[in-house]
Amino acid sequence: MQNIAVIGAGTMGNGIAHVCAQAGRMVTIVDVNDEALQRGLATISKNLDRQVKKEKISEADKNATLERIALSTDLNAVAAKADMVIEAATEDQAVKTRLFQQIDAACPEGAILATNTSSISITEIAAATKRPDKVIGMHFFNPVPVMKLVEIVRGLATSDATFQATFQLSQELGKSPVEVQDYPGFISNRILMPMINESVYCLMEGVASAEDIDTVMKLGMAHPMGPLTLADFIGLDVCLAIMEVLHEGLGDSKYRPCPLLRKMVAAGYLGRKTGKGFYEY
Ligand code: 3HC
Repeated sequence: MQNIAVIGAGTMGNGIAHVCAQAGRMVTIVDVNDEALQRGLATISKNLDRQVKKEKISEADKNATLERIALSTDLNAVAAKADMVIEAATEDQAVKTRLFQQIDAACPEGAILATNTSSISITEIAAATKRPDKVIGMHFFNPVPVMKLVEIVRGLATSDATFQATFQLSQELGKSPVEVQDYPGFISNRILMPMINESVYCLMEGVASAEDIDTVMKLGMAHPMGPLTLADFIGLDVCLAIMEVLHEGLGDSKYRPCPLLRKMVAAGYLGRKTGKGFYEY
């Protein structure tokens, strides 16, 4: 898989493009406008600079990586030349369904269509295409250049050949892939989000301050970030949306989103991206 199309230049999309180009793939990032594409490319350049500064890569590696990245707003033209598409667009089922129908129609017959979704059913996305056997989940973690994990999520119709090729690609990107079946939240968010949600309950019930809740998990459990800091990093809207998926998909009241989390999202306090969440930025 030499030609990879990455749909979406946001945090996850530019991180995925970064690691694919760094592993020698030709990457085209597709987004709806030039501004989003330029912002994504600037982020990649900045993150490559961090790696140069840390002496993990040379200046020449950085430049070669950037030369392997192209930008486009023409999804059909890019999909027509792709061996693989990795979609990292908005986490909205209707948007993804429409995108996958378009990509499916434009891509060569053998191309694999992967989605970086954190919570939408791979089986349902696949069912919107005429190649459900070639649709798979490839769930990366933020910051993508740093986090070693990729959850490779098999939809009900995903073939063994698609799974093997995606698993191998992830290894070639320097990641440690894990095989997961398609159930709400996969493994990562099935475990992470209830922990974050429970931390919000602790805050709401006055068990402790946000700082102290985070300190407990950082110093007591050696988590790199406390759960409320991590929630701000991920985005409180994303956390709430994933809790809703778990609650609806698994039907167990233990997944009910905390009312304080709902209230903060309603207020527009979404974490780092809006400058305010459990902390101010
Ligand atoms: N690109 C490239 N390198 C980066 C980077 C980026 N965007 N961000 C950080 N780094 C590098 C730094 O250069 C540094 O490199 P070094 O180890 O060679 O020194 C290293 O990562 C650590 O960074 P810093 O020293 O700046 O800061 P920290 O030590 O505080 O680490 C962190 C930052 C890596 C973000 C760490 O706090 C962490 O691991 N946090 C938890 C992140 C996490 O849980 N992510 C998963 C979120 S859930 C998700 O994505 C799934 C979704 O479905 C919700």
